[in-house]
Amino acid sequence: MNKRSVRDVDVAGKRVLVRVDFNVPLDAEGHVTDSTRLRESLPTIRYLLERGARVILMSHLGRPKGRVDERLRLAPVALELSRLLGMPVAYVKECVGPDVEQAVATLEPGQVLLLENLRFHPEEEANDPAFARQLARLGDLYVNDAFGTAHRAHASTEGIAHYLPAVAGLLMERELDTFARLMERPERPFAAIIGGAKVSTKIGVLEQLLDKVDRLLIGGGMANTFLLAEGKEVGRSLVEPDKVEVARRLLERARDKQVTVLLPVDAVVVDRIEGEAPRRLVSIDAVPPDLMIVDIGPATVEQFAAALHDARTILWNGPMGVFELPPFAEGTRKLAAVVGQTGAVTVIGGGDTVAAVEQAGVADRMTHISTGGGATLELLEGRTLPGVAALQDR
Ligand code: 3PG
Repeated sequence: MNKRSVRDVDVAGKRVLVRVDFNVPLDAEGHVTDSTRLRESLPTIRYLLERGARVILMSHLGRPKGRVDERLRLAPVALELSRLLGMPVAYVKECVGPDVEQAVATLEPGQVLLLENLRFHPEEEANDPAFARQLARLGDLYVNDAFGTAHRAHASTEGIAHYLPAVAGLLMERELDTFARLMERPERPFAAIIGGAKVSTKIGVLEQLLDKVDRLLIGGGMANTFLLAEGKEVGRSLVEPDKVEVARRLLERARDKQVTVLLPVDAVVVDRIEGEAPRRLVSIDAVPPDLMIVDIGPATVEQFAAALHDARTILWNGPMGVFELPPFAEGTRKLAAVVGQTGAVTVIGGGDTVAAVEQAGVADRMTHISTGGGATLELLEGRTLPGVAALQDR
């Protein structure tokens, strides 16, 4: 990474303002249901605490659109973080203003304070300079560890870096280094598994990957548009007719570059996207006109497994079917088990893919599970993330 990190600065006694991505799912009672992003931020927090910093954490949660939403307060996150850290985490119900300044003033070295949801203020997403300055006043040093939000040019991710010395946290560093290694010097063969509902959200990623990978395995709803481009019938499956031409062009480029592209060879089909709908397994050449594809079938899993068994690097982004409905999640889960068995460097990006490897019980076998969704995709598209660009160069 060509950016300075917490390792390059002296933090002892300093008020260190850390942007974290604590945008985590909560249940109806407000409990954190997946604490991955909290756990992944612990190394930076501990690193700072052990060196006598006064740690002030700030994050957004959900999309409250610039207004206070009681369901999106960070109080339950403070509680969960305190449990994970094994120490108290102070929390204020604001992120700027006199109460916050007071809480910061009483913070001792080795203590942690979590500020309220930044997005309760419209100035956060507007990257308002006055708001960024207000935040900056709270610290002596700014650390961005919110990789998952680094694609947003907001006051707490970009604007603030103009008013304080700004460096990367350890999670940010690990995410950036992993993707740089993946895209610049992967061990070969390098296989990418790309899924998800729509090809339109992945065109940029596919364009980039065609220059890097040896094998491209495509599943999920987006595969349907590629199947159409190959002249297959996909019944009433989700397709993007205006992207068929793009899909055809991508397949052509893959052939020119001698990248092996695998599409599903069989599929699970239903008459409606409901968990209890009766399922049928069909060859991809025999998708009935009145049914729709919701998952890859076992022959596809087998073919994908054969393409992965000797891979040295695997990147996976996006599920292979309508994964949120358990009856249609089987293909994705089986593929996760396959990926877990390879000896490859395995990099998992994207929320549903993370859930898949967790459900398959192979999460601990992955080399890297990214905490980014949109940020990971933008990075894979080769774009510069504003939250990273704003940090000090090494
Ligand atoms: C995410 O969950 O992808 C990040 O926290 C960014 O959230 P956003 O898409 O609401 O900006």
